[in-house]
Amino acid sequence: MAAGKGTRMKSARPKVLHRLGDTSLLQHVLNTCAALPAARCVVITGHGAAEVEAQARGANLHFVRQQPQLGTGHAILQALPALDPQAPTTLILNGDVPLIRVSTAAALAAACSGDQLALLTIELADATGYGRILRDANRQVQGIVEHKDASAAQRAIREIYTGMMAAPTAALQRWVRAIGNANAQGEYYLTDIVAMAVADGVPVVATQPASDTEVLGVNSPVQLAELERRLQRAQAEALMEAGVRLADPARLDVRGSLHCGEDVEIDVNCVFEGDVHLGDGVRIGANCVIRDASLGAGTQVQPFCHIDGATVGAQAQVGPFARLRPGADLGPDVHIGNFVEVKNSTLAAGAKANHLAYLGDATVGERVNYGAGSITANYDGANKHRTVIGADAHIGSNCVLVAPVSIGDGATVGGGSTIARDVPAGKLAIVRAPQVVVDGWQRPVKAKPV
Ligand code: UD1
Ligand code: MG
Repeated sequence: MAAGKGTRMKSARPKVLHRLGDTSLLQHVLNTCAALPAARCVVITGHGAAEVEAQARGANLHFVRQQPQLGTGHAILQALPALDPQAPTTLILNGDVPLIRVSTAAALAAACSGDQLALLTIELADATGYGRILRDANRQVQGIVEHKDASAAQRAIREIYTGMMAAPTAALQRWVRAIGNANAQGEYYLTDIVAMAVADGVPVVATQPASDTEVLGVNSPVQLAELERRLQRAQAEALMEAGVRLADPARLDVRGSLHCGEDVEIDVNCVFEGDVHLGDGVRIGANCVIRDASLGAGTQVQPFCHIDGATVGAQAQVGPFARLRPGADLGPDVHIGNFVEVKNSTLAAGAKANHLAYLGDATVGERVNYGAGSITANYDGANKHRTVIGADAHIGSNCVLVAPVSIGDGATVGGGSTIARDVPAGKLAIVRAPQVVVDGWQRPVKAKPV
């Protein structure tokens, strides 16, 4: 069910498209579905339907629209024609309850096993707002009463319905068509089918999640932020259990997947996005943002680096304050120092650019030393061109290499040169106005006020 507006989010974006760990709420649920042996996944959309449908990813997805939204029973009514009649069990999940675990959802479906109505319930200290589970003297479930329809005695019940259930598909078809809206909210309550199951002699069973995090819904920015912290805490704990040493598990954000080798250490306030791989012994300093990157064993990243779409070899040194952009491919033992930007460039083993430099669209050979303040002028205003620097070349400080240009193996470029023609191997190239020494020159002095 993903049709709701999410009024309390106070956002133009449909609620289920808000992001948790940089994945939409709905996509978290669809990923859980994908891990279950479901033949078909039906997504009920309504508010922002086109946008929600366009962003949903998964195999065997079917969409049905619920417009207007007249309650959860009305939502499932729209989905009935799309259900697989061959599937004995229909599992109902909520698009705004993102952290339901595969194991919990699978256990709920197994509890139904095509012939019982299975509800996911939990006991809460404060059950305000939720549907309460009504049980008889033998603890058999008899029904669910919504908070707004409940008597004072019923409101004292702490076992609540989480909004997730698994029902026998054929019976669900029958029950949902019989739901009415004579209640406090004038809505079609899906929860009314519980009493119908009891009347039909279908056993109603209740299963529980491993933790309350799995059943928390998102209705407001505050709840979204709370759930984000829980997700991040769980991810940090899984990393630490796998041996990763985090300076502070409360100050790590993984928005995607982070794969770590042995003896990886991560200092505070690092953000990992997309797919990041850290080899054995990698150390990440404080305040780094690393996205879609792979770092080789023993590589050290100093504080305040931004790494995006880069591959770094073993034993490299990066930062502090370095920026590696997409296509930066650094070999082993490469050093990239402070305020150095590398884009779409290959640096072979042992190459160094330690200070204030730009390497864009460059191929840099082994052991090249690239001086402070030097840049590749890779863009002529219309097209990008390559710079090739041979092995063991030495580029002095404050040089401009105007691409396309190539510097031969072992060549030297004198500091302050603008190089627009190729430099042969082993030679020195220098482009610099001769120094002038002026005798008897007087520095201007400040004029005195009259
Ligand atoms: C529902 C349950 C309540 C339970 C609670 C758990 C009913 C009648 N009540 O309450 O027992 O304790 O969830 O959070 O089911 N939705 C639609 N179309 C609609 C209405 C809702 O798709 O017309 C979707 C929402 O987007 C959401 C889900 O259904 O994903 C639950 O809706 P919500 O309004 O949050 O549930 P409640 O009525 O508060
Ligand atoms: Mg509601």
